[in-house]
Amino acid sequence: MKSKKELVEHLSTVLSDNWSGTYTRPAAHLYPHQWLWDSCFTAIGLRHIDVVKAQQELRSLIRGQWSNGMLPHMIFNDKHQSFTKDSNIWQSKRNPYAPDDIATSGITQPPLLAEAVVKVGEKLPLRERRSWYQDMYPAIVRYHEWLYAERDPHGDGLVVLIHPWESGLDNSPPWIEQLHRHAKPWWVRIVEKLRLDSFVRFLRRDTHYVPPGQRLRDIDALLYHSVMLRLRRKNWMTENIMDRSHFLVEDLAYNSIFVRANQHLAEIAKAIGHELPEELIDNIATTENSLENLWDSYYMQYFSRHFITRKFLKQPTIATLLPLYSGSVTKERAEQLVAMLKNKDLFHSTYPISSVPLNSGYFKEHGYWQGPTWVNTNWMVADGLERYGFTDEARHIKEQSLRAVEAHGPWEYFSPKDGTPAGAENFSWTAALIIDFIS
Ligand code: GLC
Repeated sequence: MKSKKELVEHLSTVLSDNWSGTYTRPAAHLYPHQWLWDSCFTAIGLRHIDVVKAQQELRSLIRGQWSNGMLPHMIFNDKHQSFTKDSNIWQSKRNPYAPDDIATSGITQPPLLAEAVVKVGEKLPLRERRSWYQDMYPAIVRYHEWLYAERDPHGDGLVVLIHPWESGLDNSPPWIEQLHRHAKPWWVRIVEKLRLDSFVRFLRRDTHYVPPGQRLRDIDALLYHSVMLRLRRKNWMTENIMDRSHFLVEDLAYNSIFVRANQHLAEIAKAIGHELPEELIDNIATTENSLENLWDSYYMQYFSRHFITRKFLKQPTIATLLPLYSGSVTKERAEQLVAMLKNKDLFHSTYPISSVPLNSGYFKEHGYWQGPTWVNTNWMVADGLERYGFTDEARHIKEQSLRAVEAHGPWEYFSPKDGTPAGAENFSWTAALIIDFIS
């Protein structure tokens, strides 16, 4: 067995192998481009090895910021062979706010930038930390302002997502159900009826690298693509996209992360003596209060909510526990969530925390976001648990994550039952966050 030092060395090598020259690829073959929340998690680990590189990772990320403030979920790597194909699929330049000199996707991803900036800042001496914050502050303010301006049209404080990829939890059950209910065009119905969906397999990149049983179903992949095409037809203009669409979700994971991101943004502003814009301060307060509106007092848990009907999407998932990370829920709520975490029918497995409860009809040990344990969600839940004083529970999650990685290496996800690995091998955020756990 490797010592902790040897393990950190090994994980650092994985990160340097995945380094593209300006940022860290999530996984060398499967994910060659730069992803928003991946780079944030990666920087959180990278800061322990090379803080300058961690800064470069995040600076590279804000290159892709749109002039309206949006941070895209992907920046395409123009040195990679898939660049032309991938950037042509998205055609971000159809939107007037997209940058001219860089190709990006047209949607966003969970707002972890403020967290990553603060974590990297912790590793810098005071003077450098201030200038680091000064550099990053405007981008974060503009991003959070954009979320309120475009994604919270009713001003109720909760951000609306328009594609499951924005949640980062791609095939999480509430999204899959919404997808089939609200986003199935006639031609996909025909493909489904004639059972032609397996032909989609030939067009997919992910299943070249990862066994199909560990990814999205073909029909779901086709639907994701068709939603993306619809958004592209609307030129990635939020207003046009939200008009008449019913595929709109106030996502629990995203909003829990947003609450925390706002706290970090306020911390950055304070450290550099800036006042946040007044409107932003008001919006931030509304979001903190509104998270509690996602609590269902009958089912005694938080859910995502449909934006138009205001109905809860009653599928518990790893998002159920993320209000712990927000830090804004009461101690009583935190205790209720911890009880779910410790319940053997729900989330208490040998290698916690499964991405859906063990008793969910969706549960599949290696089924992407429908069963496996992911280190990034473990990191967020453990971080929240610590802040609420549940240190033993947090330690257990970290220890078991470490054990799975010690045994198999930093894979993309693991079976919550026996820790067997799945998805992409040598996955950057797993490597980075385990380094953070050890450090
Ligand atoms: C998958 C994950 C997403 C991640 C991306 C790159 O799509 O679901 O969360 O950002 O891969 O690693």
